[in-house]
Amino acid sequence: MRSEQQATLEPGLRAGTATAVAQPNIALIKYWGKSDEKLFLPRTDSLSMTLDIFPTTTRVRLAPEAARDTVTFNGEAATGEAERRITAFLELVRERSGRTERADVDTRNTVPTGAGLASSASGFAALAVAAAAAYGLELDATGLSRLARRGSGSASRSIFGGFAVWHAGRADAGPEEADLSSYAEPVPAADLDPALVIAVVNAGPKEVSSRVAMRRTMDTSPLFEPWAVSSGADLADMRVALERGDLAAVGEIAERNALGMHATMLAARPAVRYMSPASLTVLDSVLQLRRDGVAAYATMDAGPNVKVLCPRADAERVAEAVRAAAPGRAVHIAGPGRGARLLDEDER
Ligand code: DP6
Repeated sequence: MRSEQQATLEPGLRAGTATAVAQPNIALIKYWGKSDEKLFLPRTDSLSMTLDIFPTTTRVRLAPEAARDTVTFNGEAATGEAERRITAFLELVRERSGRTERADVDTRNTVPTGAGLASSASGFAALAVAAAAAYGLELDATGLSRLARRGSGSASRSIFGGFAVWHAGRADAGPEEADLSSYAEPVPAADLDPALVIAVVNAGPKEVSSRVAMRRTMDTSPLFEPWAVSSGADLADMRVALERGDLAAVGEIAERNALGMHATMLAARPAVRYMSPASLTVLDSVLQLRRDGVAAYATMDAGPNVKVLCPRADAERVAEAVRAAAPGRAVHIAGPGRGARLLDEDER
C-alpha cells in the first residue's frame, strides 16, 4: 500500500507543464494555532484522514514570456486573497528552484471553497506537487509535504493518503532548521474500514477565515494553552487506538479534541463561533445514534459543517440520521483516499 500513500513525481512532467490531483483531509486531532505564521509552523502536532472524494486538479504551466502569474480558479480568473496566496506560493517555488519564469495555474475544485471542507488542503497539496514538477524541483514526499505546508498548513497532510500525522517541528530553531522540522508522514493503523459522513450544513464561505480565527484564539483565549497541552495527550491516545484498530476509541478521541478546539474559539475575545443551530441538531443526532448502539462520532472544522466518523458498514444508517436532522442539506460519504499525485497525460 506504500505507493498509494506517497506522492509520485513521475511521469507527469512535460516541458514545464505538470498536472496534479489531491484530495482534502479531515483532522481527527486538530491543527489550530501557529507558532510561526511566516513558516506555517503549527503550535501542536495534528493527525488526519485523507478523503477519497472532492479532488482538486491543478495544472501549472511555465509561461516564459509572461510578466506575471495568471491563476484560473474553476474556469474564472482568481482575484484578491486567493490569487495573492497562490502567487506567493509560486514565488517560494521559484526561489527554491532558482528559476524566474512566471506560470499559468489552472485549478479545479470539486468542493465548496472556504466552507470548512478543507478546500485549501487539497488545493495547496495539488499546487505543491504540480508546481514542484513544473519548476523541476526534485522533492520526495517529505519535501512536498513541507512545501505544501507553506501554502496552507493542513495541505502538508494531503500529500499522504490514509492517516497522516503532521509534526509541529521546532519553532525555536533557526528558520532553516525550523522549516525542515515540520512535515507530515503516514501513521501506522490497523485495518479500520472507516467512513466519514459529511453533512454540508452550509456551503457558503465562512465569515472569519481559519487563519484569522486561529490567530485570535491563540492571542486572546484563556482556553487555548490548556487545549494545546491536552491535544498532545489526545494524539498519543489516538496513535494507540489506530494501531489497535479501535474505531470507537478513534472517534471518541477525535470528538473530544474537536469540541475542545471549538471551546477555545468560543472563549476568544471576541468569540469565534462556527457552530450554527443546524450543526447542533446534527451533533444531537450523532448522540442519538450512539444511544442506539452505532459507534458514530463527530468532528467539525472552521465552519458549521459536521463530519461523522463511523464504521463503513454503518455509513448509510448514519447518513440517513444526519439527513433527517438536516433536511435539504447535502450529505456525502467518504472513505480513506490516496495522497497527492501527478497525473499522466491520459488521466487528465
Ligand atoms: C480547523 O490549514 O486552512 O481545519 O494554515 O492558515 O491555511 P492555514 O489554515 P488551514 O487550517 C485548518 C484548520 C482546521 C483543522 C485542521 O485541519 O487540522
